[in-house]
Amino acid sequence: MDNINLNEIYNKCLEFIEQIKNPILKDCCKKIYSDYKDKLFNKPGTNTHHYYKGGLLYHIYCVTRNAITITNLYGNLDVDLDLIIFGSLTHDIGKTRDFNDFTDDESYIMSSGNSADLLGHSYEGAHIVETYLSNYDIDEQFKNQVIHMIGSHMNEYSEWGALVMPKMLEVTIISYADNIDSHLEPAHKILSLANKGEKYKIINAPREYYKSLNPYYNKK
Ligand SMILES: [Fe+2]
Ligand SMILES: [Fe+2]
Repeated sequence: MDNINLNEIYNKCLEFIEQIKNPILKDCCKKIYSDYKDKLFNKPGTNTHHYYKGGLLYHIYCVTRNAITITNLYGNLDVDLDLIIFGSLTHDIGKTRDFNDFTDDESYIMSSGNSADLLGHSYEGAHIVETYLSNYDIDEQFKNQVIHMIGSHMNEYSEWGALVMPKMLEVTIISYADNIDSHLEPAHKILSLANKGEKYKIINAPREYYKSLNPYYNKK
């Protein structure tokens, strides 16, 4: 973990919330961030990326930053930035139920019990967001679209995957933003240890990669 100031990161997330135009989504997101602040500061991302105290908050921040950047790069894309920001900020909120608070202790066990195994974080997150949204006077079909941002963000059916495949471009953007962050973050240490031309393996990557042999490439 680099020197990450979690208070700063949390404040940046609050700034993202301020960009949400829909007052219901903005208020709902503020409430979730207030109620879950402690958990976001203490849970890891997961055991394959952002595996440290507060890794969950930092990962969520990175995904939201990535998703907004991707959207801005395709400036004429007719997508709803409210859904993208709200969905990114809450996409992994279900992990707060699945994981114990992180400790450096060797006896640390990440999973907090059966919910991670039986329900998975996509369901848990969708359920948390639906519970919060039930306090607002919100169009039922739009509410389903909001929940879709959380339930479909994994973009694949698997043990820990999506409840349903993405059916809105907004969640596709979130999914790619999530994927690149969870893929690149655990690469840092491995990459710094590998020499030019060597193969290296990132913990959650599907295969080994080669490091560049370009003589003009200066290894950091
Ligand atoms: Fe996830
Ligand atoms: Fe994620």
